[in-house]
Amino acid sequence: MTEPILSVRDLSIAYRTGRKESVTAVSGIDLDLYEGQSLALVGESGCGKTTLGLGLLRLLPNLGEITSGSLTYRLKDGSTQDLLAMKKEQLRRFRWNEAAMVFQGAMNAFNPVIRIIDHFADTLRDHDCGDGKKWTKAAVEARAGELLETVRLDPDRVLQSYPHELSGGMKQRALIALAIALDPKVLVLDEPTTALDLLTQRSIVQQLHELRAKFGFTMVFITHDLGLAAELADRVATMYAGSIIETGSARDIFYTPKHPYTAGLINAVMPVKGDRPALESIPGFPPSLKAMPSGCAFHPRCEFATAACQGERVPLELLTERPQAMDHAVACLHHDRVRLDRKHNDSPKETSRV
Ligand SMILES: Nc1ncnc2c1ncn2[C@@H]1O[C@H](COP(=O)(O)OP(=O)(O)OP(=O)(O)O)[C@@H](O)[C@H]1O
Ligand code: SF4
Ligand SMILES: [Mg+2]
Repeated sequence: MTEPILSVRDLSIAYRTGRKESVTAVSGIDLDLYEGQSLALVGESGCGKTTLGLGLLRLLPNLGEITSGSLTYRLKDGSTQDLLAMKKEQLRRFRWNEAAMVFQGAMNAFNPVIRIIDHFADTLRDHDCGDGKKWTKAAVEARAGELLETVRLDPDRVLQSYPHELSGGMKQRALIALAIALDPKVLVLDEPTTALDLLTQRSIVQQLHELRAKFGFTMVFITHDLGLAAELADRVATMYAGSIIETGSARDIFYTPKHPYTAGLINAVMPVKGDRPALESIPGFPPSLKAMPSGCAFHPRCEFATAACQGERVPLELLTERPQAMDHAVACLHHDRVRLDRKHNDSPKETSRV
């Protein structure tokens, strides 16, 4: 069996909130990411999706810290690198060359006083262009132009523009082009279509399909939009209160979710086609990081909760074992009672936004 390109074991991340205080935003994450695979991280606002995405590439802000666990990256030659042991210079080379991130909020991700061409120049010149050679001005322009054309932007119009001169969709595309500038093997995209109109969202999704087919990168994308997850993901991981509480193939998650929270997320969105079922919201609110419920963190909101759910933390249990981390696993003591009561009329591609 092939080895994963990125293996995450028991990863926990905390934010310092005072001189001696901190809150744990992500805890006990186990995840294997296989080459060419596309993984969606879904869940309500504040559940830790961005924190995990940033942690995977060691891009956490100053107040964020990986407090335990391991992150192992496998290079093309089969050797492995311990991402947590990497020094600044090694990390700089790892980022962009091996893995890159498209940050949440395309509107603010560019420096507003720098033209788009100079964003490309800064990124490319921070790395050599092969054989130890430096990027010349002409080589930067040629590479940036080629990348912009790949995401269907006109280089003549875009390269000399400042970010505010571009629409939201153009900025998002330019950001994706910038992220793939050094041909990374892993691309993490944080909410790549949020705040864009529906037609622009469609076109970005189409673009991502095309880019994956062309470059073959492994993709982690973070989203609230279950429709996007259904469309782009081979595999989905649902997060709740900083933990992965269910993971499976897109089909497992959208047809036979086994965690009441995943089922609740699906029941809370309107299918695009077919019958219009009554939408159900999930009662209550996600817990505060400072007052995490004991046992299963979902128990105060769960219709199936029993006393046992309030005891120990509930680990992920393997339901079906499949190769290449396409297993269906769930962290629920009563998963056998969970049924998705919505009738699907067609493929899982019909589910819409949370
Ligand atoms: N810099 C920070 N300092 C302290 N707490 C933080 C910081 N950044 C995030 N958090 C907290 O960590 C938790 C997870 O936040 P995160 O941004 O990862 O969630 P998210 O799932 O990406 O949410 P959203 O969908 O709104 O983007 C939240 O409770 C948030 O308040
Ligand atoms: S472990 Fe218990 S509280 Fe948690 S989701 Fe399952 S039934 Fe609900
Ligand atoms: Mg986020």
